[in-house]
Amino acid sequence: MNAPREHWSGGLGFTLAAVGSAVGLGNMWRFSYMAAENGGGAFVVLYVVMTLLIGLPVMLAEFTLGRGAARSPIEAIGHYGGSRWKPLGVLFVVTGFTILGYYSVIAGWAVRYAVEGLAFGFPADAGAHFGEISEGWDTVAWHLGFMAITVFVVSGGVRAGIERAAILLMPALGAMIIGLAIYANSLEGAGAGYAYYFQTDFIQILDFDVARDAAGQAFFSLSLGMGTMLTYASYLSREHDLPQEAGLIAISDFGIAVVAGLVIFPLLFALGLETQIMGGETGTLGALFVVLPKAFSSMGAAGPFVGGAFMVALSVAAVTSAMSLLEVVVATAVDGLGWSRPKAAIVSGAAIALLGIPAALDIGILELMDSVGGALFLLVGGFFLALFVGWRVPDPIAEVGGTRRAGLGLWRFLLRWVVPSVLLLMSYFQGQASLELIRKLAG
Ligand code: PHE
Repeated sequence: MNAPREHWSGGLGFTLAAVGSAVGLGNMWRFSYMAAENGGGAFVVLYVVMTLLIGLPVMLAEFTLGRGAARSPIEAIGHYGGSRWKPLGVLFVVTGFTILGYYSVIAGWAVRYAVEGLAFGFPADAGAHFGEISEGWDTVAWHLGFMAITVFVVSGGVRAGIERAAILLMPALGAMIIGLAIYANSLEGAGAGYAYYFQTDFIQILDFDVARDAAGQAFFSLSLGMGTMLTYASYLSREHDLPQEAGLIAISDFGIAVVAGLVIFPLLFALGLETQIMGGETGTLGALFVVLPKAFSSMGAAGPFVGGAFMVALSVAAVTSAMSLLEVVVATAVDGLGWSRPKAAIVSGAAIALLGIPAALDIGILELMDSVGGALFLLVGGFFLALFVGWRVPDPIAEVGGTRRAGLGLWRFLLRWVVPSVLLLMSYFQGQASLELIRKLAG
């Protein structure tokens, strides 16, 4: 017989943990490289549209299922839809494996930059340095170290592990990023960075590739489409106002992404490195990890502090997200297989760590895992989730509760018609993009 289900302690515990999940490498590394690749402001506008139109409805859908069933994804879906729908929960777990596998590799880069930057400063030959640390057995070692930390926190439990870490780390993270943005603002030439960041090339708003990236990024950044928010909400008690929680989380996540851009773009422009982020030799995926360290190394005495603070913030953001990725798999093993939490955390953590090794040895594989797990699977998962809650769950509006029934009618309409149509289209384009990467890797 299982132990009674744990709950968040109340107050801000759940909110901070969910914001901790949302705010991660996605906000700092992925958001800014995607914005740089897709025309700055145009991307930001589409990102906001995608968040409001498809992100928030899916987040509320996940919350509703999770809190209603008080079970991990596969069982929660089974509870409402019977076993025919359970494969959707299996897709969630597979996605968790895929994302955390490579996510932990990138987090390992960040931790390494933080430790080595604070100790020795940032080397001037940033490109060559990144080449050395981004692939190889050293990279594997930092990846394994990061996974070990994540497993340790998650083994501690929902309240003593995840919630405690979020309460401790999230306020510090917010303060660090805001502090860095204020510093970046004081640099001469920062204005050009802001101008680039907020310039909007409206033609690109009509570009399907930009829309596809914006949709994928909205899902990735809000931790949607793989049952993370579902799992966190399964530890929630009845009194929480779900729509309000969803709004708060989306606003915090977007806020941090925007402020992170206010750190990154002024820094790059002030130091004359802006052209290097757009399709440099490493490709944009690695650019942040080349160009920013280059900026830190050319800053003089302030470099190690500013760079160290940035990389520490990045590592902190990564660990609170990695916890939530692992928790999906752990909760599934605890509920479904009856394992103890520490056993579930260690076994699944080890399996995910193994899966990440190829990504640590070859950045092309990392890029593919990001495209398939971090975008395609999330969009497909979100598509089926919207259909499931929109059409199959008997009375989702009653499950949400509260008094805002008119708004919830709109929510159900979006879930039934708008979200699936948009996500089907975006999944198709993302599928093409992922296939393209597979061909590149094979050929
Ligand atoms: N939202 C996290 C980030 O932005 C990543 C993540 C994706 C976490 C999916 C959980 C689930 O870094």
